[in-house]
Amino acid sequence: MTVYQATASAPVNIACIKYWGKRDTKLILPTNSSLSVTLDQDHLRSTTTSRADPSFTRDRLWLNGKEDEIKDGGRLATCIREMKRLRKEEVEDKNTDEPKLSTYSVHICSYNNFPTAAGLASSASGFAALVSSLAHLYQLPVSASTLSLISRQGSGSACRSLFGGFVAWQMGSDPSGSDSLAVEVAPQSHWPDIHALICVVSDDKKGTSSTSGMQRTVETSALLQHRINNVVPQRMKDIEKAILEKDFDTFARITMADSNQFHAVALDTEPPIFYMNDVSRAIIAVIVEYNRLSIEAGTGYKAAYTYDAGPNAVIYAPKANIKEIVEFIVTYFPQEENSFKDVFSLFGGGRLVGK
Ligand code: PMV
Repeated sequence: MTVYQATASAPVNIACIKYWGKRDTKLILPTNSSLSVTLDQDHLRSTTTSRADPSFTRDRLWLNGKEDEIKDGGRLATCIREMKRLRKEEVEDKNTDEPKLSTYSVHICSYNNFPTAAGLASSASGFAALVSSLAHLYQLPVSASTLSLISRQGSGSACRSLFGGFVAWQMGSDPSGSDSLAVEVAPQSHWPDIHALICVVSDDKKGTSSTSGMQRTVETSALLQHRINNVVPQRMKDIEKAILEKDFDTFARITMADSNQFHAVALDTEPPIFYMNDVSRAIIAVIVEYNRLSIEAGTGYKAAYTYDAGPNAVIYAPKANIKEIVEFIVTYFPQEENSFKDVFSLFGGGRLVGK
């Protein structure tokens, strides 16, 4: 008997230009384009196995060993349905000898090797791994950008985790969502010197989910309109150019400014949303001072912080600076005081400070 099963894994990505706001909540179409770096290493990955079998009576999913409900019309159901549709259209309709996997139910097991929903983009890697594993299972002859159209409907930021390196999510303009997809700006090998340091300030589940936070921001923030219309389009062009030219000063300036504006927009929401805490803000102060001293000495920016919908810092920096930054962090935020939980570096290899 043939077993139809496939496993795929996908890493998280951390945005330098943040996605925040939907113009279509069902199709997950964003109010602005965004750009991220995929943290392609062993930490922070989701690994997903999918299996199709004619004896299965319904689609089922287990997340970290616990069964999760697949709600009718929900995001998981949408991704699975769209993948089955692609299987039928791209494989079974074209070659009638192919097994009709699109008619079988699937069982899906997914595992995150890091805390779920703690501002570490678990939904991005989770939906990207889900879509990738189904794409393997169904032997789909389609591009990563085509798959990104589907993972986007699971979690917006998941569309960017289908590529490694530097990735843009083009917001598109078609109401169907057919042009709202991820594209590679440059592979990681283009600029391997950029490393990411993750400071896990807290691994608690976040207070306001990105879905409800975004909705409230779209409904109430005037600053968001300014950001969408007057700020992000130019930043997208400038940061893409900075990446292509390996211009770290511009990359760092834009990344930090965009993180600040995203958190300003969260604060401009009614009622306000706070994702950062005192430790997050203290880490910003350390990086600002570190950069100030270097700029004054004529050596430019040394590091860039960015924060998603949670208190954890991601610090992008050239590899040569990572050791020094870790030394600052452990000096200013000693672990005995429990001020942060973990620091590890990606691209660079390995965990630097254990729990
Ligand atoms: O894709 P979501 O719904 O998890 O939203 C992600 C939003 C941010 O992480 C804050 C920004 C981004 O572009 O990843």
